[in-house]
Amino acid sequence: HKDSSHLPVSKDWGQRAAVIDTSFKPFIGNIQEFEIRDDDVWIVTFPKCGTTWTQEMTWLLLNDLDFEKAKNNDMTVRSPFLEYSAIYRDSGVNSFDECVKLSSPRLIKTHLPMPLLPKQLWSKKAKIIYVARDPRDVAVSNYYHKSGVGIYKGEKKEHFQKLLSDDYNYCSYWDHVLEFWSIREQQNILFLTYEQMKTDLKKVVERVGDFLGKEVSPKQMDLLLDHLSFEKMSANKSCNHEHEVENTRRILNHNDDSFKFMRKGKSQGFKEEMDEEMLTAFNEWIDHNLKPLDLTLERLLH
Ligand code: A3P
Repeated sequence: HKDSSHLPVSKDWGQRAAVIDTSFKPFIGNIQEFEIRDDDVWIVTFPKCGTTWTQEMTWLLLNDLDFEKAKNNDMTVRSPFLEYSAIYRDSGVNSFDECVKLSSPRLIKTHLPMPLLPKQLWSKKAKIIYVARDPRDVAVSNYYHKSGVGIYKGEKKEHFQKLLSDDYNYCSYWDHVLEFWSIREQQNILFLTYEQMKTDLKKVVERVGDFLGKEVSPKQMDLLLDHLSFEKMSANKSCNHEHEVENTRRILNHNDDSFKFMRKGKSQGFKEEMDEEMLTAFNEWIDHNLKPLDLTLERLLH
């Protein structure tokens, strides 16, 4: 199945952990030694790339399209976020335990970059779905999320700049995406993008179904596509992260409640958010990272 020889061994986890976020350091043992099951499915993304959307789709495919169960159980329970307790230490949540207690087949979410992932992921048969997104839209989505809940209080422009200088959690963006891009052909890896989901969600559902060995009838497909629409997911309390956003706002005493996790759900929204100077900086950064690989953003995302 997966071939660990592709792992970027030159960048050992200790070094990367320090760069990524010191908050992971005390948890690195829990993370690296986390026990993997052969029938696990992992969703790995850089934040704001369409994680929740992919989780909802994948959970339903794994669970015979049980829309009732999906509706009645929050996403965070159905598909826990592995390192949640490393980030929100005062939450009282033990996300590692939640993952252990989950019945199989488990669907686990993580934003950790490849070198930090549990080691057994590379020896067990577990499947990994990786989702990438245009980094310009990632920057916009991330800014609105962080400022919307009160984590970030500065200027929009300065926040965009942070992605360029690897100053976000889980950075670098390019290491994160390209390490998975480089192993996308491996049997137990499925590399998807937010843009593919926006362009042809049905095709992506079929690819995920094939990857998981799940058939979807035409009737089920119609129901699923409707369920996964931005409109329906925005109104769906079991996956719109309304409670999580409210909680964070309350903890941070942030009184503006205009932000919704399901914000716009569009591709290329960055064009209305970035000025010429910022666009140029992003485009140069994209070229700088992709040209050496003879790769274009267009090819990566479509
Ligand atoms: P925007 O902020 O650009 O609207 P993640 O789950 O990785 O944090 O990603 C969140 C982004 O995915 C948000 O982007 C959110 O609106 C978008 N999203 C979630 N569900 C979606 C859906 N059903 N259709 C389109 N976009 C969706």
